[in-house]
Amino acid sequence: MATSLTAQVSGGTPSFSGLRRISPTLDAAVVSHQSFVHRVNSSIRLVSSSSSSYRSPRGVVAMAGSGKFFVGGNWKCNGTKDSIAKLVSDLNTATLEADVDVVVSPPFVYIDQVKSSLTDRIDVSGQNSWVGKGGAFTGEISVEQLKDLGCKWVILGHSERRHVIGEKDEFIGKKAAYALSEGLGVIACIGEKLEEREAGKTFDVCFEQLKAFADAVPSWDNVVVAYEPVWAIGTGKVASPQQAQEVHVAVRGWLKKNVSEEVASKTRIIYGGSVNGGNCAELAKEEDIDGFLVGGASLKGPEFATIVNSVTSKKVAA
Ligand code: PGA
Repeated sequence: MATSLTAQVSGGTPSFSGLRRISPTLDAAVVSHQSFVHRVNSSIRLVSSSSSSYRSPRGVVAMAGSGKFFVGGNWKCNGTKDSIAKLVSDLNTATLEADVDVVVSPPFVYIDQVKSSLTDRIDVSGQNSWVGKGGAFTGEISVEQLKDLGCKWVILGHSERRHVIGEKDEFIGKKAAYALSEGLGVIACIGEKLEEREAGKTFDVCFEQLKAFADAVPSWDNVVVAYEPVWAIGTGKVASPQQAQEVHVAVRGWLKKNVSEEVASKTRIIYGGSVNGGNCAELAKEEDIDGFLVGGASLKGPEFATIVNSVTSKKVAA
């Protein structure tokens, strides 16, 4: 990472601008663990089409992180048996780019319906899970139960759980550790409120939430970080590509400094907050945006497919 960003990250000030340049050491780590990766300039890597998971007739994916593009649909507390059957049918017939991990997160009560009717191409996630083994916890859903229904992922620390339900950093970190220990992947959400951004605390808030995950989890192998500014969620006020990129760079920098270069490179950092079919391509072009967590627009199959396929705007000729 550039010296200036390191200084800014450690100082916690949100006032930097401009895009990141990866340091030679971070690039070296990237190159060493990917099957076939070129460094094409100081900031962007190409993931070659000779790597099976990234094969595409339209070119190779250029991004800063080394993980596969990831798009999650968070259906929140929406849907009925009928509307979900229609959504699943639309997803089953959609054409999805091969080089994207795609996950949907239905309300708990419909997970079984979704799992038994949705194509295996798309994985299923819970929207939350209990902090430990199941038992006498009225109204909760355990990690074991999510696994029993075939879920591969769980969303933890979503802002609606933090700010509407009142979940705290440490509790969320413990949930993440438990879910990982049982083999579920974790979509770990972080993000600042509007007043925090306006007070210049965006990085402080994000880093604190990130630290709670870092303090609790033994490994980042199965963690995707979702940066979701609270002011952008469900408001139609999407972050600009530059605003999102700036925080994603800072998050990757934080991981590099506080966890490891390898984790900083491998961990997908996805953006969430009013992503839709119209704005996803511009956001996806940013080199540190490794995918999306989508709420409202994930309730429409064709639009969600457009967002999944925005990976094409990251592709350059092979
Ligand atoms: P939104 O929600 O896309 O409706 O803004 C995103 C989220 O909460 O994950």
